[in-house]
Amino acid sequence: MNSSATADASLPNDMNDQATRDLQSAGSLDELYPVLSSSRMTPGWHKKRASLWHEPKTQFQPLHWRYAVSRLALDQAAKWIGTELAERRNLLLFNPVGDNDYDTVRTMVAAYQLLLPGEHARAHWHTPNAMRFILDADEGCYSVVNGVKVPMLPGDVLLTPAYAWHSHFNEGKSNAYWIDILDVPLVHLIEPMFFAEHPDKYQKVEQEPAQHPFYLPATSTLEQLATAPAADGVRRLTLDTLSEIKTFDIGFVSLAAGAKTVQARNTASRIMAVQKGSGTARIGDVTMNWSRGDVIAIPGWKHYQLEAQTDSVLLDTSDTPVLRNLGFYREG
Ligand SMILES: [Fe+2]
Repeated sequence: MNSSATADASLPNDMNDQATRDLQSAGSLDELYPVLSSSRMTPGWHKKRASLWHEPKTQFQPLHWRYAVSRLALDQAAKWIGTELAERRNLLLFNPVGDNDYDTVRTMVAAYQLLLPGEHARAHWHTPNAMRFILDADEGCYSVVNGVKVPMLPGDVLLTPAYAWHSHFNEGKSNAYWIDILDVPLVHLIEPMFFAEHPDKYQKVEQEPAQHPFYLPATSTLEQLATAPAADGVRRLTLDTLSEIKTFDIGFVSLAAGAKTVQARNTASRIMAVQKGSGTARIGDVTMNWSRGDVIAIPGWKHYQLEAQTDSVLLDTSDTPVLRNLGFYREG
């Protein structure tokens, strides 16, 4: 530690001397409080706000974003913003908490992203972990993650773990749309953020494997989901991703037309996205109607229940691994 950091971290001696004199002369608690405050101490019995409460409370709201609207917004933005100007052409789905204009739920952010034919989003890495869930793209769209070429086809899930170089290419004929989900808000809270741009902007394709832990193709996941045990028309599949990304889990839930999930509540924050079908979600006091491509934010400790009008499949991500590892996961 350098000397200036040491000096900055403590009260100047004359302030400590003054505090000592003021403490000695204080004749009441009311005279003590301003001295404590100027000495950067809060009396635990005289806090401005509670530090403990009986159960989780959050200002994050249950919210729903429509793919149709976000897609139109991206199409419009693409008239004026390209991947030369923007590191990513994406729309972050924020929850209106205070001045927040980024976080979707407490620990995660979701964004819609568009890549036009012929475009590429340049290579970078960062501390936050990311996944992509592809909505619409054709054969020529792919990501490169640490040199591994990974296809991006509708329903596919791609992983870009912390510190992995990643870039996106659209060499197809149609616009590519996908949903990004990252743990950036968690990294903001804990503060270990690092970010680097690739010196060449591109990264070379070094491997083009048929299978890779970064790639969870729809063909495989839908087959696994279809054969998972069913309970009242509801099937669940948790993808094997925790060896790559430790901060959020990724799975799918399918509902036959008319089926509904058991109403649940737990301390995890969730982001869901609709792969196919339509239905309703009841989250806390809010009811919303979802359809293909939509994103749903479910804050922690809200009761939530999904009901399908048509055969449906939804992506289901949550920060459950963080809560479990810290001993904070609870249902009720
Ligand atoms: Fe990134």
